[in-house]
Amino acid sequence: MKCVDDFRLRLGQHELVPIVIGGMGVDISTVELALEAARLGGVGHISDAMVPTVIDRHCKTRYVKDKLQLYKANVKNLLDKSQVKFHLGELEEATRLHVRRAMDAKQGSGMVFINCMEKLTMNAPRETLKVRLNAALSAGIDGITLAAGLHLGSFGLMEEHPRFRDAKLGIIVSSLRALQLFLRKNSRSGRLPDYVVVEGPLAGGHLGFGLDDWMKHDLASIVAEIQAWMKTEDLAIPLIAAGGVFTGTDAANFLELGVGAVQVATRFTVTRECGLPDPVKQEYFKAEEADIEVNDISPTGYPMRMIRKSPGIGAGTHPNCESFGYLLDAKGRCAYIDAYNRVVAAIAANPEEGRKIKVMDKTCLCTHMRDFNIWTCGHNTYRLKSTSLQNPDGSYRLLSAEHVFRDYQFSRDGKIALPDE
Ligand SMILES: Cc1cc2nc3c(=O)[nH]c(=O)nc-3n(C[C@H](O)[C@H](O)[C@H](O)COP(=O)(O)O)c2cc1C
Repeated sequence: MKCVDDFRLRLGQHELVPIVIGGMGVDISTVELALEAARLGGVGHISDAMVPTVIDRHCKTRYVKDKLQLYKANVKNLLDKSQVKFHLGELEEATRLHVRRAMDAKQGSGMVFINCMEKLTMNAPRETLKVRLNAALSAGIDGITLAAGLHLGSFGLMEEHPRFRDAKLGIIVSSLRALQLFLRKNSRSGRLPDYVVVEGPLAGGHLGFGLDDWMKHDLASIVAEIQAWMKTEDLAIPLIAAGGVFTGTDAANFLELGVGAVQVATRFTVTRECGLPDPVKQEYFKAEEADIEVNDISPTGYPMRMIRKSPGIGAGTHPNCESFGYLLDAKGRCAYIDAYNRVVAAIAANPEEGRKIKVMDKTCLCTHMRDFNIWTCGHNTYRLKSTSLQNPDGSYRLLSAEHVFRDYQFSRDGKIALPDE
């Protein structure tokens, strides 16, 4: 029986261990985690979600404070956020700082990519996406994975950049239809993607399936359908299978079916290099299958998988768009603000009940992802406890990213290597 190490992913001149650590925003897939994947010969992702606030945390910059200062007068205005814009020069600067933190420290033969989410509409979708994509290329990122959206115009936004044809560019899709649409709409740029991540319904983060039908799909069938179509079209773009690949054997099985690599994330959420706070990593270890749900509380409109007791669910957080505002659409609206306003109006209509503001149907995703209070996770999170050992106090031992990476690379027979005693 083969293991992952019997295969290699070829991207142009690069030959890589076919393990990609997927992007996990906001700063869950840290620079440190991505660097480990690159050092070990695979691909790691940083995320472009909420980069100014992430960079403030790491580099003591003041992007969030300065934005809040500028729009302070609008904080109480819950009906119109249209004036709350990102400064494009600062967004570019923050993205460059973020990417350079990774690229300046990179070692080894692997690569570091950035996961770029179209759904971060930032009250100016085209302009802010263009800045983020081009700044990442200018700062020397090895590749960009287009995520959370169809990205029908994204190649066009960076085709003038001198690195457009040299950096590796890929897209995440969850169906053949989404891939066909992407290829058709981006064909004008005269460039194909270098890889396509096919993400099935067991992944973490936002899902490219419906709330009620995700369980009717499976990754292997979607991969097979896309492979068959690519064959008829004579397209030789490496596919990267993502979502639910939990053991090295799961990965090797996909590689045997002809995919170029696997993209994995859940197993790395309990590594020391992962950005989640340690107590939250323990919640991931402890979670049982029944503790994990797919719901529609993300204001993006996509279903999202998370641990049910995430503290951000049902919180009555006052919208923080003047500090953050990453999900404001082109008209300065966000589904969370609408949900918040509905609750405030209901309380105003029944003041004698004196209820506390509790918003159940949507969450202030910017605030809660930034503070690690929405515990998004992959379906297999409940199996993480089988990947480590317990300490005398019942807590689980955190793993090193190297341990998990090498386990994927070398394990056989469905086995999972435990950390050394
Ligand atoms: C905690 C967590 C956060 C994630 N955040 C993102 C994200 O910001 N953008 C994205 O495209 N995918 C995101 N994903 C999906 C992963 O990049 C990856 O494709 C998928 O989870 C792989 O499946 P696995 O978790 O079963 O290994 C996230 C996954 C997890 C577990």
